[in-house]
Amino acid sequence: KETKLWGGRFEEGVTDVVEKFTESVSFDKALYKHDIMGSKAHASMLAKQGLISESDKDCIVVGLNEIQRRIEAGEFVWRADREDVHMNIEAALTDMIGEPAKKLHTARSRNDQVLTDFRLWCRDAIDRIVECIQNLQVAFVTLALKNEGLIVPGYTHLQRAQPVLLQHLLLAYVEQLERDAGRLLDCKVRLNFCPLGACALAGTGLAIDRFMTSDALGFTAPLRNSIDAVSDRDFVIELLSANSITAVHLSRLGEEWVLWASEEFGFITPSDSVSTGSSIMPQKKNPDPMELVRGKSARVIGDLVTLLTLCKGLPLAYNRDLQEDKEPVFDSVKTIVGMLEVSAEFAQNITFNKERIQKALPAGYLDATTLADYLVKKGIPFRTSHDIVGRSVALCVYKNCQLQDLSLDEMKSLSPVFEEDVYEFLGVENAVQKFSSYGSTGSACVTSQLYYWTTKLDIN
Ligand code: ARG
Repeated sequence: KETKLWGGRFEEGVTDVVEKFTESVSFDKALYKHDIMGSKAHASMLAKQGLISESDKDCIVVGLNEIQRRIEAGEFVWRADREDVHMNIEAALTDMIGEPAKKLHTARSRNDQVLTDFRLWCRDAIDRIVECIQNLQVAFVTLALKNEGLIVPGYTHLQRAQPVLLQHLLLAYVEQLERDAGRLLDCKVRLNFCPLGACALAGTGLAIDRFMTSDALGFTAPLRNSIDAVSDRDFVIELLSANSITAVHLSRLGEEWVLWASEEFGFITPSDSVSTGSSIMPQKKNPDPMELVRGKSARVIGDLVTLLTLCKGLPLAYNRDLQEDKEPVFDSVKTIVGMLEVSAEFAQNITFNKERIQKALPAGYLDATTLADYLVKKGIPFRTSHDIVGRSVALCVYKNCQLQDLSLDEMKSLSPVFEEDVYEFLGVENAVQKFSSYGSTGSACVTSQLYYWTTKLDIN
């Protein structure tokens, strides 16, 4: 067995069980690109500061490039006995170029190294997730553009509430997604500070230039406090929190579309290309992708809880526990990307069943609140209007009819204020026309929302 990079003070190597339990290379090899990027920046800084020679730096850079090539060509052998991605790359570099490689870890610890890699990785991940969010927004706006004028029942308590334009409902999701992206971008601003040079926890007496490495890696600035730099994972928790909120949003979308695809609702028909069947019931066509979007939100939330629990009560500064921070992040990012992608694909592959929806609209007195507003416009206090309309609905329930089926005499018996013009407020189409407040489902307002999003997302 080869001696560990840290083997100097040890008389014997670790047991196989310990080695297997403590290694992280099996998953943190995902950081290889950022690890190499960080090492190249570090080596250049060491050379500029005169801590290593220019020719050593050149050897290191050439060697690291070759290692990256091998990794990407699938030729690199990852070794569990070399523990993690950092020592795998450093040891392989030593195998390849010899002495100069032994200078690379000058004024650096794996504690600041892993965080440099991880912050760079998360920064890229955020860009990728934000791109997926935007693609989903585009899918929603496109769906809205295709379904102009379609009215659907709006629900509260999953009971019929008021009529809304389908476009309005779809744009509600676009708004949620915009904040989801905003949270990620906020997180990116806060995470974009460089830990490199914090070393194990206390910094170094060697004359390094942390601003140089920070700049080279595209960070805003070096982290101010070396202990903070190697101990905190709040940027990870923030990313996982943002993902969790997005996941919760998507789980609600999943639920809505699963419901809408049911025989009972029948509002949407997903195409075969986004549906799956049953191994026993030949007739089945299930909306599995959206069920899994709903289901996978559990993983994303679980990943956040893992990180919160991991960090709770940890003393400063670095603790090996923190190695457990990677897999939940990898899982969360992969899962949320998948959820966003499949939701967009689903949105591109559903049709709204206009006839079915229109047939469903009359039920549930969706125009009742509009009728109350009518009475308010005639000078009746809202509370009184509410009561009059409540009694009108009760009459309809008794007669098994809709509000617009009541005669003017019947209405007048409930309130003398009712006039012929009341019928302009009744019926779902009329009711939806009456909305006019900012942010409402009124068609002028929805048109301006659509204009806002098509411009912002560059859709024509
Ligand atoms: N694999 C470790 C991690 O992910 C790297 C840092 C190890 N540092 C140490 N002192 N053992 O946290």
